Amino acid sequence: MLEIVPLSPIIGAQIRAIDLSAGVAASVATELRRALARHVALVFRRQRLSPDRLLAAVGALGQPERQNYSQFNHPEFPDIGILDYEGEQTPANMWHTDHTNRVAPPMATVLYAVAVPGHGGDTSIANMRAAYAALPATLQRELESLKTVNTFDGQFAVRANDRERFGTPVVHPLVRTHPETGEKALYFHILKAERIVGRTPQASRVFLQDLLDRAIEPAFVYRHRWQVGDVLVIDNRSAMHKVHDDYDRAEKRLLHRVIIAGDRPI
Ligand code: SIN
Repeated sequence: MLEIVPLSPIIGAQIRAIDLSAGVAASVATELRRALARHVALVFRRQRLSPDRLLAAVGALGQPERQNYSQFNHPEFPDIGILDYEGEQTPANMWHTDHTNRVAPPMATVLYAVAVPGHGGDTSIANMRAAYAALPATLQRELESLKTVNTFDGQFAVRANDRERFGTPVVHPLVRTHPETGEKALYFHILKAERIVGRTPQASRVFLQDLLDRAIEPAFVYRHRWQVGDVLVIDNRSAMHKVHDDYDRAEKRLLHRVIIAGDRPI
């Protein structure tokens, strides 16, 4: 039995007494997936994961897949994305969910802390099921009728092979139903949602930003303060996350990111 300690009544749980580098048995992986669906974000502390061990542990939960911008791939383990926010790479400091430019976006994002700054650079995760559930019923009905058109977000240069693989615009519902819990959640990446179907890009951006401002309440958010060796698993089917871009760039912040294949949102 896993030792699962909730971090708040609404979002987050720490998984204790587990060494992910030793491998994850199928029965444990099933429990972890269930815990993820329930708690939206899982935290593991004090892990020591070489790139191959990280991929093996994540692989027990689901199929790792390539990320949008191959220029940030780990040179030897291309299923790992390097997040260091150096050079052209900048932190996504707005609420978002990952890779909505895919027909089947990743069900989860896994982050592993290799180096962290002394202060700042936290990652916040919001429970978008709770955010949706707290909205008035009339607005919920309106949102359920809306769809977004999603593309690359224009934050970084897109290599030709990445554009070819992942660049076709894709339509997703603005409210998606979690395949395991059956609960509904707000679902979009504000920079990748080029527009809401039937609205202009500008009107769509204003509408989506207002919606985020209104829907995400502090009680729905877990803010993770990183320590080296932390693993954070985020259920992208019911969460948005953002980086706090408030740390001293003279200090190193290096995360390894793996995304896990998911279903088409419905
Ligand atoms: C992400 O937006 O997927 C990365 C989060 C982080 O750097 O903490």
